[in-house]
Amino acid sequence: MDIKADFLIIGSGIAGLSYALKICAYGSVAIITKKDKKESNTNYAQGGIAAVVDADDTPDLHFIDTITAGDGLCKTDIVRIVVTEGPERVRDLVNWGVPFSRRKKNKTSEFDLGREGGHSRRRILHVKDLTGQEIEKILVQKVNENPGIKIYEDHICIDLITAKKLGQKNISKNICYGAYVLDRATGKVLTFVSKVTLLATGGAGKTYLYTTNPDISTGDGLAAAYRAGARIANMEFIQFHPTCLYHADAKNFLISEAVRGEGAILRLRDGTPFMAKYHELKDLAPRDIVARAIDAELKKSGDNCVYLDISHRRSSFIKSRFPNLYKKCLSFGLDMTSQPIPVVPAAHYICGGVLTDDYGETNITGLFASGEVACTGLHGANRLASNSLLEALVFSHRAAIKSIQQVHRRNYPKVAIPPWDSGNALDIEDLVVISHNWDEIRRLMWNYVGIVRTNKRLERAWARIQMLQKEITEYYWNSIITSDLIELRNIATVAGIIIASALRRKESRGLHYTIDYPKKVARLAQVDTIIKVRPRISAVLNRVISTAKARNKSKPSRFSLFSTVRKEEV
Ligand code: SIN
Repeated sequence: MDIKADFLIIGSGIAGLSYALKICAYGSVAIITKKDKKESNTNYAQGGIAAVVDADDTPDLHFIDTITAGDGLCKTDIVRIVVTEGPERVRDLVNWGVPFSRRKKNKTSEFDLGREGGHSRRRILHVKDLTGQEIEKILVQKVNENPGIKIYEDHICIDLITAKKLGQKNISKNICYGAYVLDRATGKVLTFVSKVTLLATGGAGKTYLYTTNPDISTGDGLAAAYRAGARIANMEFIQFHPTCLYHADAKNFLISEAVRGEGAILRLRDGTPFMAKYHELKDLAPRDIVARAIDAELKKSGDNCVYLDISHRRSSFIKSRFPNLYKKCLSFGLDMTSQPIPVVPAAHYICGGVLTDDYGETNITGLFASGEVACTGLHGANRLASNSLLEALVFSHRAAIKSIQQVHRRNYPKVAIPPWDSGNALDIEDLVVISHNWDEIRRLMWNYVGIVRTNKRLERAWARIQMLQKEITEYYWNSIITSDLIELRNIATVAGIIIASALRRKESRGLHYTIDYPKKVARLAQVDTIIKVRPRISAVLNRVISTAKARNKSKPSRFSLFSTVRKEEV
């Protein structure tokens, strides 16, 4: 079945929803989201949004803090755009009704600004410690009020449909026509045809064994864009958040950096603070430095975790500033007003992504990307805390401007788009294989592509991921498609891109630290690592496809559709 929408949005976090609100007056809008519309990475953002709204702050200071954290790799024109347009985008949120926390100063009410690592000023707007959840709630309400926006929950993107995939020749630039999408409830694959498509699928923290991200973070948009031929940049820069709760029953629970912003101190098991040894900003040093310091201390001591201590602040302050953290810690038997919280670093944010221009457009005509899935050049080699929601707002707004111009010029594709065909694919016999493969990928990424890297570990990871990709590709093409299979394939693709990118960068910069090349290389400042699908089908993949074709004898239509342009996985 074909569903037509002028604008197709894949993902329902801050990037997708804010874009929807900006373009909905200019055409029909379909949003697909793989779970319920409120489930997104945005929802879990505790810290807030960094923006210059205080008289004591300036865009220049925000600019300097961002490029200092980014360690020579930020695109300065992009940083300038974000720090100057950011306050206006925050006003959009205020106008939509986001109730940012305020405080009284000289009888007037002003934003209560938080502080996080790498910021020279207090500039984090927050709604207590539930900023993302509040923003998401308001955006969903606004979108629901709008009859021109249709949300498809429980729908996951399988692959983008492009001119090249359809075998169109003589085009100078690839064009995106929409996406094949699995309706998880019915198991049917739908064809969404669009004039403009926005990828807003967030990150891929689930590539790693330990992550602060929710289960949905499987890099679906990134992997689909890669397969479609989009340029993917700087994927070696994985940000590990220094403070994820260490507790057997806690899954992915982040202890916000805002806690250190309010004075919390990182300590060893015996109570010794250690950050002064690593950076003059101590506990508020940029994240890469704090995460590496914790990693070094854990390796030295053999302990499982370090401790975050804010118990010297008043109990009433802690409870009112961090009500959610306080409650959550208490549910694990930890009273943060009187005892330190056990913490470890965990994969948190991917600074790289689908390369976009300064209006969020990719190298594929009609395909935009915004939010964590995108690489705009803002973050460089290390994202400054709380810059990500801001980036999503700024680039969704800019992408909206360019999309509106394009939608008027573009028609729906004249070529017939073949419906998805499962051929003779069978139900997966051995479901447990999916969870084994998934587990294997996440462990190998954690062990070999983590906070501190070496050539040997990366090469080992590369050899293993290629083997796993081959295996996964084989049963992906032989089995009836399910959401688990789509996610597994995407995780494998993203892991491969991360490893390939890390192998290419022969220096240590920002979040990419390797013992074999411990120094920064001056000539590599401003050089992005770009990965693109290779323009030939590899011998390995050819073999996989022909084996699968032979098994899937009578109707190999899933292959015929993709084989013309399907290229080697990295
Ligand atoms: C945090 O609250 O520590 C996370 C904020 C961010 O990652 O920007």
